[in-house]
Amino acid sequence: MARDLSTSNRIGAEDIRRRKGGVPIVCLTAYTYPVARMLDPHVDLLLVGDSVAMVLHGHATTLGASLEMMIAHGQAVMRGSTKACVVVDMPAGSYEASAADAVASARRIVNETGCQAVKLEGGVDMAAQITAIVAEGIPVMGHIGLQPQSVEKDGGYKIKGRTRENVEALFRDAEAVEKAGAFSVVIEGTVEAVASDLTLHISIPTIGIGASADCDGQILVIDDMIGMTVDRVPKFVKEYANLRDTISDAAARYATEVRSRAFPGRDHVFSATSGKDKT
Ligand code: KIV
Repeated sequence: MARDLSTSNRIGAEDIRRRKGGVPIVCLTAYTYPVARMLDPHVDLLLVGDSVAMVLHGHATTLGASLEMMIAHGQAVMRGSTKACVVVDMPAGSYEASAADAVASARRIVNETGCQAVKLEGGVDMAAQITAIVAEGIPVMGHIGLQPQSVEKDGGYKIKGRTRENVEALFRDAEAVEKAGAFSVVIEGTVEAVASDLTLHISIPTIGIGASADCDGQILVIDDMIGMTVDRVPKFVKEYANLRDTISDAAARYATEVRSRAFPGRDHVFSATSGKDKT
């Protein structure tokens, strides 16, 4: 059985479920201990997204994520946070084949990280997996619309909800995820009006990314949001900071000072007498 998390003081999956239609739920991805510490006071939910494979490990798609990678980053984010509901993504290949695989992987993630919930991509096609994981007492967040784990199959990052057939499929997916017992669902890369209608249609909170301000919450990839992304920045991202330039400027100044021997200066070296040093 999965570890009992009921004694935790953190925001839990059921707290998130109860936020349907209320004050928007603030979510960000996090992958590391220091970033989790910085974000925890400000957010309701931290997602250890499989985007970590691209953002931190340089893979071309999220298919580069492994269970071990997700668990290691999940542990770091749990160490760095005390309040947020921490959700860890199930990587591609760890859950699609069968409900039994999905339960085994979800159990491993929860037992080895202590996170509050797992997330997996898919709608009607993954309903059996969601039902089985929820039956084990592990909360599940769904993920419909644009599903990054399927981009190779889909032939690229395609916005969803632009044809009648696709809109109908999205409604079927949202209903399936809700019926399977998910406590919330990410809607990614979906036409604004469709994401808004889906939010009205289902009883669990929708978390938008490239979706609609009407969703019950929003999520962004942290590195996108703080201007750390070195490749293409998606249209739906708002950069609230520009750490690319800050880091690049710092590295350039450091390089100049090392080459000119301006660094290390008097403040950054040790004298023979310990009392003279700053601690
Ligand atoms: O992996 C991820 O970061 C995600 C978010 C974009 C929702 O799934």
